Amino acid sequence: MTPSLADEIGRRRTFAIISHPDAGKTTLTEKLLLYGGAIRAAGSVKSRRAQRHATSDWLEMEQERGISITASVLHFDYQGFRINLLDTPGHQDFSEDTYRALTAADSAIMLLDNRKGVEAQTRKLFSVCRKRRLPIFTFVNKCDRLGTDPLGLLDDVQKELGIDCFVSTWPVRRDGHLVGVYDRDRGQVWLYERTDDHGQSRPVATRVDLDSAELVTAIGHDGADKLREEIELIEIAGTQADLEAVARGEASPVCFGSALTNFGVDVFLERFLSLAPAPSPREGADGSVDPVETPFSGFVFKVQANMDPRHRDRVAFLRVCSGRFEEGSEAVVSRTGKTLRLAQPQEFMARERSHSGTETVAGDVVGLLDRGSLRVGDTVAVDGRIEYPGVPRFSPEHFAQVHMEDALRRKHLDRGLRHLAEEGTILLLFAPSLTGPIPIVGAVGTLQFDVLLDRLQREYSVAARLERLPFHCARWVTGSDAAIDKVASAYGRRRVEDADGSPLILFDNEWTLQRSQEQERELVFHDVQPRRVAVS
Ligand code: G4P
Repeated sequence: MTPSLADEIGRRRTFAIISHPDAGKTTLTEKLLLYGGAIRAAGSVKSRRAQRHATSDWLEMEQERGISITASVLHFDYQGFRINLLDTPGHQDFSEDTYRALTAADSAIMLLDNRKGVEAQTRKLFSVCRKRRLPIFTFVNKCDRLGTDPLGLLDDVQKELGIDCFVSTWPVRRDGHLVGVYDRDRGQVWLYERTDDHGQSRPVATRVDLDSAELVTAIGHDGADKLREEIELIEIAGTQADLEAVARGEASPVCFGSALTNFGVDVFLERFLSLAPAPSPREGADGSVDPVETPFSGFVFKVQANMDPRHRDRVAFLRVCSGRFEEGSEAVVSRTGKTLRLAQPQEFMARERSHSGTETVAGDVVGLLDRGSLRVGDTVAVDGRIEYPGVPRFSPEHFAQVHMEDALRRKHLDRGLRHLAEEGTILLLFAPSLTGPIPIVGAVGTLQFDVLLDRLQREYSVAARLERLPFHCARWVTGSDAAIDKVASAYGRRRVEDADGSPLILFDNEWTLQRSQEQERELVFHDVQPRRVAVS
């Protein structure tokens, strides 16, 4: 029997992993792929590419630098669930990309290093999840090494992030070595057999009771006593699973384990999949949109040009929010009102793209080949009245003029800048009074500039160089032209416009910005691109 649409949507789990670089996101991602059968042996991806990367990296530059730059999507089936894992860049200079991926997620896994706890990037990404009220599931990684005392670590997470933590699994050690995890739901211990293939395969796990002879054999009398005391302590601490608080993103179940040795990964995944939400109604401009009852709708959270140099195409990644994607049907792009024929859905597994053979429903991500009609934030829906809130653009903090070596390639430069701005790699700005026809680019992090120059060279054959401008923050402004000009004409400020013609003011520092805000009350200063302006 073919499953109903509600059943299909109900088995979707669409999420992202948030972590500080080096916490083990790549390793955990590989293990999830391994468990889902999407790869045969963890590490195979890395060794084939002779680089430290997960399958989700695309661009050559990422390989050279060893960082994951673009957000991409991996999907696979596991125990009846369809998992859509939105990969997020680890480097803070690409936080905008990460933010966009999080707008497409229904939940997040927060990965912590057991020696470091909450780190700078975790904090930043957590605050994004908080704003979106995403349910958060915590995995404390690297427990094969001794780290901070687990209860102390949980305490830090609660204090630092203001989220209630409750223990879902707990590390079990013998002589300081991780041998298993206590599963609080079952009241049992999962004991793992060590593999000698460096965690490439799934270890055999045996479940034993807390008072069993097997546990004593595994960790000794003293070990078993100590574990029982720890469990008692956890129970006394009384943090029970409050599933409603989890759903609101106010409490997080915490599992301990090691992505490297795989210990604790299976039980974490099981717990995560059973508690993480399936796609639920999303807020549109005219109220909530039900994922099952409403025909196909979704929004673009990422656009990527030239993903495959052989095709030179653009792909718009669309998070499906309702209904079923039907190839050949027509939908409306809300920003332009234009009709779009839904064609050529793509599945993504690193570079290997294939024509999608499986059903795409709410919760899934579909890649649409695009000739420039779609932008990040666009709603695409069969019912043209649906409009999702869009994906905010952050105000940039670094600015530069783009100069080129060969004036004859100006058209190529303009095209490249336009494409990369549409992708969100940089924010393209114009200030005729300041620079004449020389374009200005803005970025949230300076690595975006490196990516820009690299891609202009590789994909558009344009050798460009950047001349940094002495501004360090910017705000979109709404108000009268006269008021904008008045503020912008003062020392250390400059008026520019984005590609939509929306005015921004650049400031040489935070202090100048603050003074302007205090002095010119008529203007409204926006740190994300204001919506009305974005869609005009
Ligand atoms: P990231 O994507 O979050 O940046 O982290 P990644 O998975 O690349 O892991 C960063 C380092 O931490 C890697 O070591 C990785 O092997 C190690 N690691 C990941 N999970 C665990 C774990 O559970 N236990 C321990 N002990 N280490 C873990 P590396 O030496 O930098 O790289 P590699 O040579 O091992 O690939």
